[in-house]
Amino acid sequence: MYRELHHPLIESLVNTLRDTAIDAFIFRHTIKELTKLLLYEALNTDLLTLKKIVTWDGEKEYGYIDEDTVVVVSVLRAALPMHEAVIDTLHRAVSGFLGIKRDEATHKSVLYYDRVGDCRGKKVILVDPMVATGGSLCDAIEVLKAKNARSICTLNIIASPEGITKIQSLYPDVEMIIAKVDEKLNGDMFIIPGLGDAGDRAYNTL
Ligand code: PRP
Repeated sequence: MYRELHHPLIESLVNTLRDTAIDAFIFRHTIKELTKLLLYEALNTDLLTLKKIVTWDGEKEYGYIDEDTVVVVSVLRAALPMHEAVIDTLHRAVSGFLGIKRDEATHKSVLYYDRVGDCRGKKVILVDPMVATGGSLCDAIEVLKAKNARSICTLNIIASPEGITKIQSLYPDVEMIIAKVDEKLNGDMFIIPGLGDAGDRAYNTL
């Protein structure tokens, strides 16, 4: 299933990213702000784990997100600001990284780096700002399923309808939390209206 967040703040932050006048710092900052809001939504149905703590009024039991069972995986490199935002909130989560690059001529994604441990029993939060054809996310999901992830939830800033359809038809159990579903893909498989190349814009690469 997928959920697009409809909120004026989300809309405004996504539209900030569309503006080519913003610099890399503001681009990364805006991605992080959006990621916090996506994470808030992604954790909406999580059950809290009870833990005994010592409060000013003695020992008590309260509920907490079970961060120890969370693995945050980012698709390099555009997802790095999203990754930072998630682990700033879930300090105890384990991190994993997948290098996946879309071939510019064929538009097919290529996995070139895998630094994700075994995910058995873990809830994986998979972050990538853009879902165009969906190929990169599919590759990432395949890797995570092979590593026995208990559940997979993706956080995405923008996604094309084509990419969402592909992922949902292949992996109906994967939950996608998306800030904005854009209009379409163009002939070069770029998202329209889109943001441009998020990796380049986040890090001023040429
Ligand atoms: C971008 C983006 C996604 C992918 C989406 O990464 O961050 O990972 O493209 O395209 P797809 O849905 O058609 O696979 P890119 O390949 O540009 O790598 P980069 O982050 O290293 O620039």
